[in-house]
Amino acid sequence: MYLGIDLGTSGVKVILIDDEQNIVAFSKGSLEVQRKNPNWSEQNPSDWISATNCAIDILKKDYSKELKAVKGIGLSGQMHGAVVIDKHDKVLRPCILWNDTRSFKEASELDSLQEFRDITGNIVFPGFTAPKLVWLKNNEPEVFKQISKVLLPKDYLRLYLTGEYVSEMSDSSGTSWLDTEKRVWSRKLLDKTDLGIENMPRLIEGVDISGKVKDEIALKWGLSKGVIVAGGAGDNVATAIGAGTVNDGDSFVSLGTSGVVFSTIPEYLPNPQSAVHTFCHAYKNKWHQMGVILSASSCLEWFSKINNIDVKTLSDELGNKLNAPNSTIFLPYLSGERTPHNDANVQGAFVGLTHNSTREVLTQAIMEGVCFALKDNLNALSSAGGKVERVTILGGGSNSSYWLELMATVLNISIDIPKEGDFGAAFGAARLGLIAFNNAEVSEICKAPQIERSIYANKNFLSQFDESYEKFKKLYPIISSAMK
Ligand code: XUL
Repeated sequence: MYLGIDLGTSGVKVILIDDEQNIVAFSKGSLEVQRKNPNWSEQNPSDWISATNCAIDILKKDYSKELKAVKGIGLSGQMHGAVVIDKHDKVLRPCILWNDTRSFKEASELDSLQEFRDITGNIVFPGFTAPKLVWLKNNEPEVFKQISKVLLPKDYLRLYLTGEYVSEMSDSSGTSWLDTEKRVWSRKLLDKTDLGIENMPRLIEGVDISGKVKDEIALKWGLSKGVIVAGGAGDNVATAIGAGTVNDGDSFVSLGTSGVVFSTIPEYLPNPQSAVHTFCHAYKNKWHQMGVILSASSCLEWFSKINNIDVKTLSDELGNKLNAPNSTIFLPYLSGERTPHNDANVQGAFVGLTHNSTREVLTQAIMEGVCFALKDNLNALSSAGGKVERVTILGGGSNSSYWLELMATVLNISIDIPKEGDFGAAFGAARLGLIAFNNAEVSEICKAPQIERSIYANKNFLSQFDESYEKFKKLYPIISSAMK
């Protein structure tokens, strides 16, 4: 048995798989986000521990035998968050999360220092870890002074589990302190934020072993003694491991709260000016590229909430047949945007409203706007040397067939829908536990899921959606400057 733990933003998901990778059980513990100020987003690391313990307690009820048989654990987690602890491992303040943009000024200051892009291969985005530490230094100097270690969320969970300060390459790529090509911490970049190597956890690959579960936790969780914990991965790489996106050119689109276009690439191909993320994969000499939009299915959830109607009904109201593009255009920047605009302050908009703008028209516009933003990402990836022609679709938004046909058409790619199952980050984390314990080959273990069906671009609408996309592209500069 292997255990995967994914520390997400809305909850901790725990999954048990057997030696043949069958899912034996899963459970969840939920989490809240605290937003003290409009662009703040924080969580208490102690809540992560409680939510994980809660998820394990649920498993213990019916799967105590299986828990006893666990040989390896893998960790996955929301990326970029800053957990700051003192020399006694005491958490000094709540974790500042990936979608907290308070440090946008500090990010742009660091980003203007050429060495950040040169060494990390990425823009210093406001959500990344390093600018958060500069914000702490400027705004909470008494906290900053006491910092002994800076840890990413899942690595704090690892500290609780194993007592070890360890991170791995994929998650560390999102800190702005990693030399992404050499896969080592950059002393030079740490120095620019008044930190040093001593403040960082030891680095390993995601498929390697980081340590063993402490005896007291083993007892509490009903595990055998000495269970190993793999390096694990940031949630997107863990998802890639779960979905078998491990060979060069393999790609997925994830329609979750945020939207991700992810592609495994044959070599380190940084292209920061495109706002593409070039990060390490979970194993040696392998990287990936990723475009991230900050609001994807969350746009439809927002619309469903204000209409007091569920997302499925909104989608069903559009019928089964793809409609020609809407003259109403939606900009999905409900929480700023990363790729390609790197603009923490831009806001969303509906443009082109008339008396005929019914709820259906607006739902369609929202789906189209998210697809256009994904097309921006696809274009950014191809300008960075990636080539995406076919993707596996993952995430909650993938339940709408209308949205998927629209996406295939707007992006002009083929979309594979996996057979029912769970190929997400928790499953990927469990796979990493299995790989680390057995010293197994990634390509042997990380097979792609079986495909239920594929969706192809609707050729009748290609040119109309291209025209609509051109209009969409013209709107970002207008809206962002008008709202400044
Ligand atoms: C990736 C990113 C998000 C978070 C969400 O760069 O910010 O995918 O990891 O959990």
